[in-house]
Amino acid sequence: MCGIVGYIGAKNCIPILVGGLRRLEYRGYDSAGIGVLSQGKALVVKSVGKVSVLQDKLDKLSISSSIGIGHTRWATHGVPNETNAHPHVNEKNSLMLIHNGIIENYAALKETLKLAGYVFKSDTDTEVLAHLIDSFLNKGLTLFNSVRAALNEVEGTYGIAVIFENEPDKIVVAKKGSPLVIGIGDNENYIASDVSALVAHTQQVVYLEDGEVVEVYKDKFIAKDVSDKEIVKKVQEITLKLDEISKGGFQHFMLKEIMEQSESICNSMRGRLVPTEGTSKLGGIEEYADRLAQSKRIIISACGTSYHAGLVGEYMFEQFAEIPTEVEYASEFRYRNPIIYPEDTVIFISQSGETADTLAALKESKRRGALCIGICNVVGSSIARESHAGVYIHAGPEIGVASTKAFTSQLIVLSLITLLIARKKRMSLIDGQNVVSEIEHLPEKIESILRLNDGIEKIAEDFKDAKNFLYLGRGYNFPVALEGALKLKEISYIHAEGYPAAEMKHGPIALVDKMMPVVFIAPRDSTYEKILSNIQEVKARHGRIIAIASESDDKINDLVDYTIKVPDTIRMLMPILTVIPLQLLAYHIAVKKGLNVDQPRNLAKSVTVE
Ligand code: M6R
Repeated sequence: MCGIVGYIGAKNCIPILVGGLRRLEYRGYDSAGIGVLSQGKALVVKSVGKVSVLQDKLDKLSISSSIGIGHTRWATHGVPNETNAHPHVNEKNSLMLIHNGIIENYAALKETLKLAGYVFKSDTDTEVLAHLIDSFLNKGLTLFNSVRAALNEVEGTYGIAVIFENEPDKIVVAKKGSPLVIGIGDNENYIASDVSALVAHTQQVVYLEDGEVVEVYKDKFIAKDVSDKEIVKKVQEITLKLDEISKGGFQHFMLKEIMEQSESICNSMRGRLVPTEGTSKLGGIEEYADRLAQSKRIIISACGTSYHAGLVGEYMFEQFAEIPTEVEYASEFRYRNPIIYPEDTVIFISQSGETADTLAALKESKRRGALCIGICNVVGSSIARESHAGVYIHAGPEIGVASTKAFTSQLIVLSLITLLIARKKRMSLIDGQNVVSEIEHLPEKIESILRLNDGIEKIAEDFKDAKNFLYLGRGYNFPVALEGALKLKEISYIHAEGYPAAEMKHGPIALVDKMMPVVFIAPRDSTYEKILSNIQEVKARHGRIIAIASESDDKINDLVDYTIKVPDTIRMLMPILTVIPLQLLAYHIAVKKGLNVDQPRNLAKSVTVE
C-alpha cells in the first residue's frame, strides 16, 4: 500500500528518497513522486508506474536538495495518474504533502474549501489536506500549528509528511491509524512508513503513536501528543539487516521466502519448546497464560492468509486446548457489533501488524474488555503494540506480496499456544512430548518437500493455461485448500476456489470436467478414506487431479494424475507441510505466465486502508 520516505540533513536527498521508495515497492503501488526544496523553492516530480520511471525523470533533471519527501501511491480516490500521485501542493506551490490512509470526510471538507475559493486539481482525498493546512497558514499559524489545526477537522486515517518553503528547516509529520517512524541519524533524520526504507541508513528509530504530530529537524525532533503536550519519545534499536530484505540470489522474493521456511519456522520455535515438560514457553503471553487457558471462548480475527492460519488454529484449540473457538474476518467482526465477554480471549493474527481492519477489530475488542493477544511478524507494529500481550512469529521480513513463510510461522506459534494451554489442561506429559518432538522435526521435513521443487515446476507447466482451479481438503487441511487457492489467484490471476472436500457435491461438482484441475489435499488422516471417495467423484467426471498426499501412501498414485508426497506428521501440524507444495505450484504457474510474482497487480503487502 502507499509508502512514505523523507530526509533532512546535509546529503543530497534524491538518491535517499528513491532508494527508500524502492525498498517500499513490495508494498504495492501504481505511481510515485518526490517533493524537495530546491534552492529554497518547492519542487515536485511525479510519475505513473514503477519507481524506475521516476528515477529516469529525476536523472534528466539533476536536482540536488538536503530536504525532501517521497511517496508511492496505491490508488484509492482517483485513478493512478500523475495529477493524483503525491506530493500534493497548495495553490502557491509552497507546501508539499504526502499521505497514507484515507480522509473519510474529504468530500465535505472539499466543498467548504471550494466555497473559500480553493481550486482542486486532483480527485484525491489528500489534496484536501494540502489546502486545509494552507488555509491555516494563511491565518498566520506556523506549519506545525496549521497541520494540527487541519488534522483536528479530519476524520479518517493518516500518516502524513509536510514540507513548507517558508520553514525550510523541518518536515512536519503526523500519524493516526497509518504507521510512521522516524529514523535517527548523525546530524540527519529520516522518516518512513516502514523501517525497511530506513535500514540502509540507521538502526535507531522512533515509532509514532496515533495523535502525535512531530517536527523533524536535521539534528532533533519535537513531538507533541493530542493535548499539545510535548512528549519524550523512546529511541529503539531495530535488528533488521539490509541482507534480510534482499533477494539473496533468488529470482523473486516469494521463492526466497518459500525456500526459507525450514529456517523461518526454526526461528519461530527457537527457545520456546520445553521438551522435558512437553510444553512451550512464550514470554510474551506468560503473564496471561492462565487467563488464556481459562477463557470461555477464543475468537481469532484476521484477514487473508492470516485468517486461514486462524482457521487452522480453530481446529488446534478445539481439539487440544478444549476451548470453543471462532474465526472471524476482521473486516466483518469490527462492524458486526460482536458479542464479546470479559472471559473471552481474542487473538489477532497479522504478518504486517498494520492491517487496518485487524487493528480496528483489536481496538473494538479491547474496548469491550476482552483479553487481546497479537500474533505478528513485524516487531513494533501497531497490532503488536496495541495488544495486551503477544507472540512474535519471528519469520523475518516478508517482502513478496503473497504471504508464504509468515503462514507457516503463524501455524507454529498457534501450535505452541495450543500446547501451552493443552498441557495446563488434560494433555498428558507423553502426548505433550510427542507434539514437541513432531514440531522439532518439521524443519527437516520441510527441507525434503522443498527438494520437490523441480517436479512441481513440471506440473506447473501442464497447468499454466488453466482458467479455473478447485482446491479441496478436509479438517485441518480445509484451510490449506483456501490458502492454496488464494496463493494461485493472487499471483497468477487464475480463478481458484477452496472448498471443504465434502461440500463439493453440494455445488462445485457441477464445474468439474476435463478442463477443471482439482487439487486434493489428501494426507493419510481420519478423513483420508472419505477424500478418496471425493477423488473418485472427480475422476468419474474427467477432472484433472493433483493430490498432496502422505509419503507412506502408495494407493493414491493410481487414482490421480499427479501426486506430490509430503512426510507424515501429526494432524495438527500437517498444514505446515501440505501448504508448501501449493505455494510452489502457484509460484511456478505465475512465473510461467510471465507475471510479476512479487508485486501482483492491484495488491498491496500491507493493507492499511479499509
Ligand atoms: O499483514 P496481514 O497478515 O494482516 O495481512 C493480511 C492479508 O492482507 C494478507 O494475508 C494477504 O491476503 C496476502 N496477500 C496473502 O498472500
